[in-house]
Amino acid sequence: MKQNRIVVRAPATVANLVCGFDVLGLALDHPYDRIAITLLDERVIRITHDDEYGLPADPEKNVMGVALLALLKEVKEVAGFDVACTKGIRPGSGIGSSAAGAAGAVVGANKLLGNRFSKNDLIRFAMEGEKIASGARHADNVAPAIYGGITLIRSMEGPDIVQIPFPELYVTIIHPQIEVKTADARQILKTRVELKDAVHQWGNVAGLVSGLFLKDYELIGRSLEDVIVEPQRCILIPGFEEVKKDSLRAGALGGGISGSGPSLFMLCKDPSVAAEVETMAKERYNKMGLPVLTYISKVNEYGVQEEVMPIVGAVS
Ligand code: HSE
Repeated sequence: MKQNRIVVRAPATVANLVCGFDVLGLALDHPYDRIAITLLDERVIRITHDDEYGLPADPEKNVMGVALLALLKEVKEVAGFDVACTKGIRPGSGIGSSAAGAAGAVVGANKLLGNRFSKNDLIRFAMEGEKIASGARHADNVAPAIYGGITLIRSMEGPDIVQIPFPELYVTIIHPQIEVKTADARQILKTRVELKDAVHQWGNVAGLVSGLFLKDYELIGRSLEDVIVEPQRCILIPGFEEVKKDSLRAGALGGGISGSGPSLFMLCKDPSVAAEVETMAKERYNKMGLPVLTYISKVNEYGVQEEVMPIVGAVS
């Protein structure tokens, strides 16, 4: 029987991974958005949000709607979608809220259309949704949201995505309760880079990718350094330097701004260290009088996934 309804979980993501501006990202197990999609036999997209964020229902102004419109442009038959989203990822938090919506919508829609599009097609569609949220096309949130794991966007043409193997890692997300818009955080960046900084940075990108492949935690740690973007953006995040120092003292491998912020992320080898990083960050922001939300998650290996409903009355 043809499936005409699906519920997916679309994961939060950490873009950049400190040194890899616009080219590296990873997916988290949680938080995630829950998106229910129904296939319609008319060319229409209807969107509802069951959350407190007041996101637009107009498909041309909504990241899920724009991504689905891009997908529908490549569908010949008459089809449309009813989309109901409950956001678990706060908009403007720096952990890929808009990417989760866009990626979840197109992965779910593709399943209802018989999986006719490739993952890279879905990234192309989802990037159109991302563009309306951040003002620029970048795939370092949508690629890990769709592929899962840690991804390298070698090129946006194609796109050319490389899935990078990785050792066991725990990610602490620290979200001070302020909002930073990706479009604003991109606007402040200088468009030119000194050659010596570029050399330093690509050494770190290559080091980080090698460290992940080799499961070399020390190499991962010392490569988590950004001499280009972080020095310009860290002023947008109160307590950034202090939280980073506390986390390194607690034993984190390293970390920095998650995407364009305001969340910070710290990579840890052990769950106990990830918990200590979380405790220290909460204490730091409590002292500063700034509310903070935190999460600890493993790296999500699967990306957007269909939610499998538990069978009522099942004996486990
Ligand atoms: N690479 C993008 C940026 C990610 O840093 O602007 C935004 O989440």
